[in-house]
Amino acid sequence: MLDDLFSKRLDSMEEYVAGKTVDEIAEKYSLDPDQIISLSSNQNPFSLPNQVKRSIKDSSEDVSSYPSPKDFYSLKKSVSDYIGFSPSNIALGAGIDGVLETLMKVFLEKDDETLIPVPTFSYYKILSKVFDASPAYIERGKRFEIDPEKIKSNVKEDTKLIFLCSPNNPTGNLVQEETLKTALDTGKIVLLDEAYAEFSSRDYVDWVSNYDNLVVLRTFSKAFGLAGLRVGYAVMSEEIVEKYRSISPPFPLTVPSINAAKTSLNNLNHLNEIINKIKTGRDFLTEEIKFKTFKTEANFVLTDVSPHNSEEVCEKLMKQGIILRDCSHMSIKDRNLVRITVGKEKENKKVVTALNQI
Ligand SMILES: Cc1ncc(COP(=O)(O)O)c(C=O)c1O
Repeated sequence: MLDDLFSKRLDSMEEYVAGKTVDEIAEKYSLDPDQIISLSSNQNPFSLPNQVKRSIKDSSEDVSSYPSPKDFYSLKKSVSDYIGFSPSNIALGAGIDGVLETLMKVFLEKDDETLIPVPTFSYYKILSKVFDASPAYIERGKRFEIDPEKIKSNVKEDTKLIFLCSPNNPTGNLVQEETLKTALDTGKIVLLDEAYAEFSSRDYVDWVSNYDNLVVLRTFSKAFGLAGLRVGYAVMSEEIVEKYRSISPPFPLTVPSINAAKTSLNNLNHLNEIINKIKTGRDFLTEEIKFKTFKTEANFVLTDVSPHNSEEVCEKLMKQGIILRDCSHMSIKDRNLVRITVGKEKENKKVVTALNQI
């Protein structure tokens, strides 16, 4: 009955596939949820600092109110100190997902094209389609690098946005300087998703000073461990921040999320400890897994389980209570890729043992 009323754009949409949850797997295989390890969503496995936990509890009194402009500004100010850009270059949103959605409203019009090097985070394609743009894809090379020539040859008059991700999800490699420069020199808007920057050896946020078409996206969901509170931000020219502000949902964050993010930025020692633990775990997985692993600068490791089938491998491990991310839906030719989020030491050991027994 309602069929005629739904937007026709939904006909060509593929839904975002999130990692399998502990509850799903516990039910499916009759397992004890407490014994399941979830390494499929690139979340932070470690506890939050006590100050952050306290700030969330203390904020519970304030949830009957919307956050005030002063609340938003105070988080921008903390981010500004952390990132080294003025608050006037920063826009906030409900995670990178929320920030991206508002940016799509700022830039995309019907029949625009977006350019997406694949494989990458699938939400870029979904958002492009939701906003009536046509995504065009560039295949990455053997080590998932992006050939700058392919950017040049694929950018057309109708191209509005180029999506780059560094370190890239699910491959873990960084965008090369030459690739970023080529993308920026096209004059199109370059959205550089640095969700995993805290784990990597370099980032490009300082390039925002030189390129007014560069938007760098960051989040509190990964290294800071606040995925459930949904806090993300963009660093970009004041001109784009102004347009963003004019079209953003009025209250994308909450008082607890603002306070938790601010308190996290006051606990950078804790952040550094966690980053070091993740890097140690990342090295362990990279070295100990018997299958080919790829160099990664993020909090996950990509492995090619060939000659085995990635779906079957993930299924086998799930039955043992280990949830990994099968990448077969990303249709990468001749490869059987599985993405493993770095967990706690015990979890990493369990994954290695299970994978090496295959
Ligand atoms: C590359 C990338 N960007 C953005 C996100 C979403 O981040 P947020 O939680 O800030 O919306 C993810 C989540 O997995 C991601 O992998």
